[in-house]
Amino acid sequence: MPIEKICIVDDEVIMRNFLAEALKRKGFEIQTAESGEKALSLLQQQTFDLVITDMKMGTVSGMDVIKYLKENNPNTLTIVITAFGTIENAVEAMKNGAFHYLIKPFALESLIAIIEKANQHLALLEENRYLRQQVAANPGNKPIIAVSSTMQKVLQEVQQIAKSNANVFISGETGTGKEVIAHLIHYSSLCANHPFIKVNCAAIPDNLIESEFFGHEKGAFTGAATKRIGRFELANGGSLLLDEVTEIPLLLQPKLLRVIQEQEFERVGGTKSVKVNVRLISTTNRDVRAAIAEKFLREDLYYRLNVVPIHLPPLRERKEDIIPLAEHFIIKACQENHLSKKKLSAEASKKLLDYNWPGNVRELANVIERAIVMDNNAQISGEALRLEENAISCKTLPELEKQLIVATMQLQPNTTKAAQTLGISIKMLRDKLQEYQLSE
Ligand SMILES: Nc1ncnc2c1ncn2[C@@H]1O[C@H](COP(=O)(O)OP(=O)(O)OP(=O)(O)O)[C@@H](O)[C@H]1O
Ligand SMILES: [Mg+2]
Repeated sequence: MPIEKICIVDDEVIMRNFLAEALKRKGFEIQTAESGEKALSLLQQQTFDLVITDMKMGTVSGMDVIKYLKENNPNTLTIVITAFGTIENAVEAMKNGAFHYLIKPFALESLIAIIEKANQHLALLEENRYLRQQVAANPGNKPIIAVSSTMQKVLQEVQQIAKSNANVFISGETGTGKEVIAHLIHYSSLCANHPFIKVNCAAIPDNLIESEFFGHEKGAFTGAATKRIGRFELANGGSLLLDEVTEIPLLLQPKLLRVIQEQEFERVGGTKSVKVNVRLISTTNRDVRAAIAEKFLREDLYYRLNVVPIHLPPLRERKEDIIPLAEHFIIKACQENHLSKKKLSAEASKKLLDYNWPGNVRELANVIERAIVMDNNAQISGEALRLEENAISCKTLPELEKQLIVATMQLQPNTTKAAQTLGISIKMLRDKLQEYQLSE
């Protein structure tokens, strides 16, 4: 985040105006204050990237300004200007968190060099933050199990995509590994050492999503107390994962389209354009065609996002992956729970292969973890997987209803009594029997 907005605080009018003019010409946005008091009131209303302040002023000194910023806005950098012979002031200011100092008289180039240094310092801070974030998000290497030929093909596609900067659209049912593949695309690409930023479009309220994407200036709307950098700017040079992209409010989609085309945008409430170079990786578990037809997603935006499509097949259509994935999750769960490695019984393997996995790989990981934690045997039995429970909990409401009616009618073939047991009228039971094509 480079320095854009600077406040100059000096009670000497000539110095103040000279610095203001010189820095304006360099393209910075400048505000000035002729006293410490004025500076404090400006700092309460606005956020600056940098404050250049004289030390010795009336009642409120440069040191007071620095202390105020340290407490209230520690992200604002400060450069202090002190008179010759008062170097101890500068030392004191540095102890209080000032970024640098200049001794009067000084050449403009010295000030510019310090601002340049401040920019490098900010870039390093950002990079550190990203690295920390990445380490947290990527604990060790995430192994990807891909034995089936369809998943092998996906991995080959990823290697191809990694060489380009094209936008990628990953579709697939919930839990098929869309995020895992997005991660792999970024970390095998040329921008792997740049940020990988994620935004879950479904989790952000409609009225905040624009600011989440593009950031905002201080005071852009009620609650915007400080300037905020959006996800696009944070992802600059790297990749931005738009998770559940069909949930982006329709009203925001034209702006997103424009940003993709022009690679620049304004923060909410701002006028300055911010240039970005970001690879977009979008995901959805909806049927994209239907989402377009139902006007959830603009078609023109979809074409921009879907330069390279990747489809992840459901787990039930790539059965060769099931046992290797299960083995992988067994090792992981045993390690995490400090247990020696357990084995799958033949019966358990068969059950895993026969099940239809509506929750895909995520469901498989959960089933295995539950079996490891809840069962003490060295071998995982078919029963320990408790797939029947999952099968029920994954059903839709009508499916459950049908299942309940069938079970009740088996126990109680008399329609009147079955309706009583179910707590519904005979007419309703007959309607349901017809609806589900069941015989009385
Ligand atoms: N091929 C794979 N190898 C190893 N682990 C996998 C694989 N695919 C998925 N997983 C694991 O399964 C879980 C679900 O994967 P992921 O979050 O990527 O799914 P998703 O498609 O993004 O799901 P959703 O649509 O619900 O967001 C994660 O814990 C992930 O690590
Ligand atoms: Mg996901």
